[in-house]
Amino acid sequence: MSNITNCNSTSAQSALDLPRPFAQPLHVGRPNQGNRQRFLERINEMLDRNWLSNNGPFVKEFELRIADLVGVKHCIAMCNATVALEIAIRAADLKGEVIVPAFTFIATAHSLQWQEITPVFCDIDPRTHNLDPARVEELITPKTTGIIGVHVWGRACDVEALAEIAHRRNLNLMFDAAHAFACSHGGKMIGGFGLAEVFSFHATKFFNTFEGGAIVTDNDELAAKIRLMKNFGFAGYDEVIYVGTNGKMTEICAAMGLTNLESLDEFAAVNRRNYEAYRLGLSGIPGLSLIGYDQSEKCNYQYIVAEVDEVKAGLSRDELVRVLHAENVLARRYFYPGCHRMEPYRSHYPHARLLLPETEKLTQRVLILPTGTAVSPTEIREVCAILDQAIRTSPRVRERLEAGGELPQAAAEK
Ligand SMILES: Cc1ncc(COP(=O)(O)O)c(C=O)c1O
Repeated sequence: MSNITNCNSTSAQSALDLPRPFAQPLHVGRPNQGNRQRFLERINEMLDRNWLSNNGPFVKEFELRIADLVGVKHCIAMCNATVALEIAIRAADLKGEVIVPAFTFIATAHSLQWQEITPVFCDIDPRTHNLDPARVEELITPKTTGIIGVHVWGRACDVEALAEIAHRRNLNLMFDAAHAFACSHGGKMIGGFGLAEVFSFHATKFFNTFEGGAIVTDNDELAAKIRLMKNFGFAGYDEVIYVGTNGKMTEICAAMGLTNLESLDEFAAVNRRNYEAYRLGLSGIPGLSLIGYDQSEKCNYQYIVAEVDEVKAGLSRDELVRVLHAENVLARRYFYPGCHRMEPYRSHYPHARLLLPETEKLTQRVLILPTGTAVSPTEIREVCAILDQAIRTSPRVRERLEAGGELPQAAAEK
């Protein structure tokens, strides 16, 4: 699986002289799985019914459950969030230029570029890691048709400010809510903001359907169009009325989703417990600050995000990643190096980095640590102890790293 790469990094030399690394690698984004028995029962039910795809009973039930949980009128289940974004963008008739953050997974930008719409990269607010509304306003041109905010780490964008800009400038506003399933903003569930929002249910996400996603919206017309577009544009047996694609979720994915929904509270409780263990373990380590989650909101706590201040820590984020990988802790650099530094955008906008100073800084600072139901508080204490020791002995660690090799390359920064 592309989300759990770097397994061979265990061969790297420990920079800390610890007795032994973790026997099993600790991953970021190991899947959370619900009750296996219930899942197997559903598979049997599905096979007995012999209905495997094409809007089957599990998909229909799943859509109702998600719409109810999020508090929206429509949920359209999809094969993944990337195709869901593409369909939502097409159904909303976005064209020309659309403003997006560069600090996001590449799929946000690609879902536009794939349809020959120009993603215009906007800088983020360093306090929230999300789109900075003041910068958004500066990027609007006569070609701009929309804004896609991303609720990075499950923390909501400044939806009020973005909605005000979108309204005043007559733009569509949508959200990539890939990280934000089961999170709220101002007491309202994420999914209910803008024209439409898109969730990812990829295996690495808080809640998964193996691969999967959903578009949620309160707009009847848009929902009807999306339903047709995700099924090739078919309006009836022999009638096609749109250019569509195949975005359908399968029954087995919906069965996984229905099963995992039954364990949602448990996943959130484990993630929160892990977050608190990291908060305790990392407090007082110079140069490491854990991002916060608003306790008054619903949060999935799926991302343990530390920002590394190299001057205070004595080690850079990349050096800490190398230290951790050598101990079999497969920490990640998320969204590195930023969409604007990946092709084709790097060639299209060679100077984009000059407009994105906060994104540039953040992509060098962010360190994502393992959590989820596969990670225990004892393991978290050990991870924190590794970071503590590395930073306390940073000059020697740096020397040893300099004598060693390169940082192993992650295949995909998911
Ligand atoms: C912010 C963001 N957007 C979009 C996606 C794409 O989701 P999917 O893998 O379901 O296509 C991801 C997935 O990792 C993501 O993190």
